[in-house]
Formats: sequence, structure tokens, C-alpha cells
Amino acid sequence: MEDISLHILDIAENSIAAGAAIIKITIAEDTGKDLLSVEIEDNGRGITDEFIKKVLDPFYTTRTTRKTGFGLSFLAQSAREADGDISIKSKEGKGTTISACFKYSHIDRKPLGNIADTLIVLIAGNPQVDFLYEHRRDGKVYSINTKEIRPELGEVPLNFPDVINVIRKDIEDGIKGLGMV
Ligand SMILES: Nc1ncnc2c1ncn2[C@@H]1O[C@H](COP(=O)(O)OP(=O)(O)OP(=O)(O)O)[C@@H](O)[C@H]1O
Ligand SMILES: [Mg+2]
Repeated sequence: MEDISLHILDIAENSIAAGAAIIKITIAEDTGKDLLSVEIEDNGRGITDEFIKKVLDPFYTTRTTRKTGFGLSFLAQSAREADGDISIKSKEGKGTTISACFKYSHIDRKPLGNIADTLIVLIAGNPQVDFLYEHRRDGKVYSINTKEIRPELGEVPLNFPDVINVIRKDIEDGIKGLGMV
């Protein structure tokens, strides 16, 4: 996986597969602490205690189309390559939170990549799911919540092209507004 935004896409796809109605994605860049953290929290069906230990094993998957699952083990590998790690918290029937941290300045830390593209793919492809996105960079914060956009749209779906364009612009400008690291 070339960048962190693709990991986020992958992990959020797990949340969607788990029937989540709300997915919260948080990115925090703290150059003072030399830390990048990423969290994906969902209210999907959760993972049983029995399986939580196994999900980092690429040979454990509930997919039926092939015998290995890679999303979580790839993210764990990327985090560890950059002196970080991942943690998985889950409660059956309640939801799952996947957190990953990276040493910000580590030479092997993958770039964030195109976060706006990732969010747009998720929102446009899953208009029934609500996405909360929060991006913090050294004290500045940008956030967007599709739940707050819905009432303004009336009958128009979130993935209506004009709506998607407005959301994309908001995200791009919002992230730009966080400034350079
Ligand atoms: N957010 C989640 N909610 C519930 N179960 C999850 C969640 N994330 C992962 N899982 C469980 O952990 C397993 C492993 O996930 P992982 O992303 O590593 O592989 P996969 O989704 O099975 O396959 P791939 O990501 O390669 O398409 C999944 O099959 C699923 O059973
Ligand atoms: Mg997966």
C-alpha cells in the first residue's frame, strides 16, 4: 500500500462490510510529539473477543472469495515500519475502533496521500452511511460530518454529483487550511 489514505479506505471498507451506519475517521498530526495517529471508529457489528486476537493474522478472514484478509495486517505492518503500531478495540454488537500510530518523521512513514479522494470514494459509494472526518494538525482542526449536511439536502442524496463536488471542495480547502507541516 503506497500511502495512508489507501489504508484508511481499506479499514473503512471493513466497517461498511460490518454494517456500520456511522464511521468516524480521525487523523492527528502532532509534529511536536513527532506523532501521526489515525483512528477509524464504527458502530458496526464488532468483532468477538475470540477473533480479535486473530484478525491481525492474514490467514484469518471472514471473506469467502479468498482465504486471506490483508487490510488490518497491512496497516499493522506500515505502522510498525514507522516505529508505530496498531490497536483494535471492539465490542460485539456495538462497534470497532482501529487506531494506528506512526513516528511522524520516520523515513519509512508513508505519506498521507490523497485524503479527499479517499473520503469522496467512501461517501459517494456509501450514501446511506454517515461519515465524520476530523483532521488535526498542530492545534488546528478541520472537520466535516455528513449527518449535518443531510438536512440541507432534503430529498437529494449525498452522492448527487453537485453535492459530491461541494463536499470535495470543502475537504480540500479544509485540509489546505491546516497549513504546511
Ligand atoms: N470494523 C470491523 N468490524 C467488524 N469486523 C471487522 C472489522 N474490521 C475487520 N473485521 C474482521 O476482521 C477480518 C480481517 O479484516 P481484514 O481487513 O484484515 O481482512 P478482510 O477484510 O477479511 O480482507 P481484505 O481486507 O483483504 O479485503 C475481517 O474479515 C472481519 O471479519
Ligand atoms: Mg478488509
